[in-house]
Amino acid sequence: MIAVLDYGSQYCHLVARRIRSLGVYAEIFPNKTTAAELRAKRVEGIILSGGPSSVYDNGAPTVDKAIFSLGIPVLGLCYGHQLIAHALGGKVVQSSREYGKETFAATGKSQLLKRLDKKEQVWMSHGDSVVTLPQGFMAAGKTQGCKIAAYANDARRIYGLQFHPEVQHTVHGMRILENFLNICSCRRNYTIKGIDGKLAAEIKAKVGNGAVIMGVSGGVDSLVASALIKAATPKIYCVFVDHGIIRKGEAEYVKKLYEKLGFRHYYYADASQTFYKRLKGVTDPEQKRRIIGNTFIEVFENKVKELKAKHGEIKFLGQGTIYPDRIESAKASKAASVIKTHHNVGGLPAKMKLKLVEPLKDLYKDEVRELGTMIGLPRDALMRHPFPGPGLAVRIVGEITAERIGIVQEADLIFTEELRKSGQYDKVWQAFAALLPVKAVGVMGDSRSYGYIIALRAVTSVDGMTADWAKLPYDMLEKAASRIVKQVRGVTRVVYDVTQKPPATIEYE
Ligand code: XMP
Repeated sequence: MIAVLDYGSQYCHLVARRIRSLGVYAEIFPNKTTAAELRAKRVEGIILSGGPSSVYDNGAPTVDKAIFSLGIPVLGLCYGHQLIAHALGGKVVQSSREYGKETFAATGKSQLLKRLDKKEQVWMSHGDSVVTLPQGFMAAGKTQGCKIAAYANDARRIYGLQFHPEVQHTVHGMRILENFLNICSCRRNYTIKGIDGKLAAEIKAKVGNGAVIMGVSGGVDSLVASALIKAATPKIYCVFVDHGIIRKGEAEYVKKLYEKLGFRHYYYADASQTFYKRLKGVTDPEQKRRIIGNTFIEVFENKVKELKAKHGEIKFLGQGTIYPDRIESAKASKAASVIKTHHNVGGLPAKMKLKLVEPLKDLYKDEVRELGTMIGLPRDALMRHPFPGPGLAVRIVGEITAERIGIVQEADLIFTEELRKSGQYDKVWQAFAALLPVKAVGVMGDSRSYGYIIALRAVTSVDGMTADWAKLPYDMLEKAASRIVKQVRGVTRVVYDVTQKPPATIEYE
């Protein structure tokens, strides 16, 4: 296993994901993890991720220096690169900022930078630089703005890269990560093939004859998790809570899907009126999220009570939590500033006294899709875009009203249809329509109209942590826009969102 120490980089998951795709299991650990803990886990290599800090910041995250004496290879990326140099007696200074694509030239011969071209395109984002190396280290590569863009100590197997090998813009980044795995002498035996049987056996051992209740959303994670649980026990009760702020036709779609897959106990809880009532007049995004989260829990708890009365004891709660959810919610519970509270991350309250069954807790989204394919789930359902727990509420900026929900639903449906028709749907991570809280003038026939602005958002991403706006074909965008203005009453204008995450987020609230 490779341990990735998390220093707060947006790309931390990407590093772990890339290592897994090279056939070696990788896990993310807090940066405070000690050398002794890492040794006990029998890790074969340690990667220190990037992060937003400077080593000179007050309270900047550090590293247990004992990890450099474990005899285990260590690789620092960006902040990790600076931190290793700093910790071992080198010097880091504030420098001119490099951001974006840069040309890197390897100098000297290090095991880490084997098989690279003379000039390589790499991706950088840093303000500090290493200017003096610790004893025994050699500079291994430079860019125009950074003399020590890579360093190596082949004898101690400790390395640093100022750039990010994990991002696609570093053209031969995967080669460098492969070299690191070779340095670690890792066997390439991690695969999720056969994991379905193992997970089903684990679920069976845990739940035995007991019953499992599970909230399902129609999304990929809860679908794959519920299908695995169903393979282990017939006593799985699926509940779809309809908060009324969902895509058009969604409740019917999910019901049909679960029926087709042979789920015998599928329950639909229509709570839309309760949600609408509580959301009336609310415009603050966090308050919206809180109301939706709390009401969801209340409705779900009532359903559990009802089902217990009907079926007898229910001891287990199934959840489609995946690996990034777990790491992010652990971080969020500690972080001082939470950007958004994700209502279904972290799950339902402990007072429900249900034992959790989370078969996907160690997997990434693409691994979940692969697993779903393995167990025969329909491709269409597995390829669906992620949909947020609070639903269209985070895509309607301002107050949620029946009229606004209707507008977003119609616009979203048209956008999705056009994406599918043009073959773009599967190429993007997520795409949707959002409603802006301002109105704009338009012309309808010969008269002036005044209506809403719909923003279309489509992004490419690996895990939703960072995202780029999708370069959709203009003619496809034009078709979607003109259909929306023509067919959705109340909309006079359509815009396409071309911001990246960060600094923007994917959703609007
Ligand atoms: P943001 O907007 O934070 O979204 O860039 C990143 C990913 O998370 C999804 N998202 C949510 N998912 N509950 C969820 O289950 C939520 O409250 C929530 N908010 C955002 C979003 O759709 C994107 O895939």
